[in-house]
Amino acid sequence: MENLEDLKAYVASAIGLLTLLFFYLVLRKDLEAPVPYDVAPPAQIQPGWRGEVLDEPSLKVSGSSVIQCYAPATGASLGLVNPSTADGIDRAIAKAKEAQVEWAKTTFAQRRKVLKTMLKFVLENQETIARVACLDSGKTMVDASLGEILVTAEKLKWTIDHGEASLKPERRPTNFLMMYKWNEVMWQPLGVVAACVSWNYPFHNLISPIIASIFSGNAIIVKGSEATAWSSSYFACIATSALIACGHSPNLIQSVICWPNIANHLTSHPSIAHITFIGSRPIAHHVCASAAKALTPVCVELGGKDPAIILDDLSTSNFKRVASILMRGTFQSAGQNCIGLERVIALPNVYRKLIDHLTPLIRALQPGSILNSSPSHPVDVGASISAANFANLEALIQDAVDQGARLLAGGKRYIHPQFPQGHYFTPTFIVDVTPTMKIAQTELFAPVFLLMRAESVGDAIAIANSTSYALGASVYGSNSSDLERVVREVHAGMVAVNDFAVTYMVQLPFGGVKGSGYGRFAGKEGLRSLCNQKAVTRDRWPGVKTSIPPPMDIPFGSKGKGATERAWKFAEGIVWLGYGDWRGKVRGIRGLLGL
Ligand SMILES: *[C@@H]1O[C@H](CO)[C@@H](O)[C@H](O)[C@H]1NC(C)=O
Ligand SMILES: *[C@@H]1O[C@H](CO)[C@@H](O)[C@H](O)[C@H]1NC(C)=O
Repeated sequence: MENLEDLKAYVASAIGLLTLLFFYLVLRKDLEAPVPYDVAPPAQIQPGWRGEVLDEPSLKVSGSSVIQCYAPATGASLGLVNPSTADGIDRAIAKAKEAQVEWAKTTFAQRRKVLKTMLKFVLENQETIARVACLDSGKTMVDASLGEILVTAEKLKWTIDHGEASLKPERRPTNFLMMYKWNEVMWQPLGVVAACVSWNYPFHNLISPIIASIFSGNAIIVKGSEATAWSSSYFACIATSALIACGHSPNLIQSVICWPNIANHLTSHPSIAHITFIGSRPIAHHVCASAAKALTPVCVELGGKDPAIILDDLSTSNFKRVASILMRGTFQSAGQNCIGLERVIALPNVYRKLIDHLTPLIRALQPGSILNSSPSHPVDVGASISAANFANLEALIQDAVDQGARLLAGGKRYIHPQFPQGHYFTPTFIVDVTPTMKIAQTELFAPVFLLMRAESVGDAIAIANSTSYALGASVYGSNSSDLERVVREVHAGMVAVNDFAVTYMVQLPFGGVKGSGYGRFAGKEGLRSLCNQKAVTRDRWPGVKTSIPPPMDIPFGSKGKGATERAWKFAEGIVWLGYGDWRGKVRGIRGLLGL
């Protein structure tokens, strides 16, 4: 009977505890829950906005230092932006530096809360963000969804889920001589970092370094391109408003727009601890030379001439899927994509099939702007950021045709009937291109599908390797030994198998080798590169500590004749003991004993 009473009491208390636990789990406040906030969108994205079309659209205004912002798809003015001066940059850095002192004390949970807040905003405002990006850079809404929104949501989510694990102190191994040590690496914020980013993804390129920098405890000065100066204040505001909503200082993030001569002031500034540069090779030389004055490390992300290698055993069921991926990879953002497909290298059978299949598709592509896109007028390919490269593109295409390439679509700039001041290049298909042609070696950054023929897998790899770039690459086929051979041998920083650019969609480290730059952003490597990688060694067991053995203790003078010789023998013995095989260790012990 007594036992039954005990059991009853036991069950009752168990039920009580479970009820408490249940209420705790249900009612507990999620300390990292996102905070809602608003940012007023620019008036220019209202439906029906047209804007004053400039006669000769240009960023420069004669006799003034202001930046004339305009929509590259229509030539319509978006407004004037006053660029920063050197003093303005000093002030921005000073504010960021001050805010970072407090921010460095925040926990990962507090930083995650800011990113979750930003993610909620991005998800709920996808269309507004996309429209702003489209208006400023000329891309289409689908281009913006994939290249601005999707990748930003992924970067936020990855950092929320895996950022802390990437920056948590990491235990490192020890060795025989140092067996009494406990070793680790810890990642601490650098202070104020900078990012100078390109115009092709005005939202993602601006926000991505902000995400990584603030999560790693840094403040950031982000310099957007003058070509997309208009949207940078709205986009930067999305990040600073998330900080404010979570109770932090918005000064942590400083957006700066300036002309190149003033940018030197930023890149050589002694208070900047790290620079991420995304842009072109000629500019990178200036940025690195400028950063060298303050010995500031630079992560250099330049363009590429990315190959897609198509093997002959691509199955019929996969052919159409792959062809669509190649179209997207080439014409995304009108080809203005650092990891865009610049060369499709196909083996003989699939080469012929690709020409037949793609020619009508590329000829059917409609260039245009989101401003005239409608159900009856779909727009496939957006505008280019400027017309400055068009003459060069036409010359490269003509040069290739003169050397035997066949031009099956496009090849020339395009005057849009509704937007004659817009910057458009006709979607182009050029085949029979060989590695010696200039067009096969130059990064085009344009809506050009360039097809090259390879005789074998080895030949395809050799062609893929034949440029001065090595950023991304992709390979499509079914024989895994051929696919793996390409993965191993192709010279690139990133390789996707049977897919395009997905290494970035899972936040693997992003970057290239050769003429495509150095350093990595994204992933664990990217986060860690924004930190001081502090190496720490501690004693593992109480009382076991390093002490200088008496024969090696200086000064030797008081130790009588032969002291230095004895010290050397002892030191040599330590090395044998630590690194020799068993015979060496015996020799080491003899040395220690002075035998
Ligand atoms: C391609 O480049 C890589 C890296 O330099 C090299 O290991 C490989 O042998 C090259 N392959 C061919 C076929 O050129
Ligand atoms: C796959 O490719 C390798 C090397 O090119 C070849 O030896 C092998 O026979 C192929 N396998 C199949 C199933 O075709």
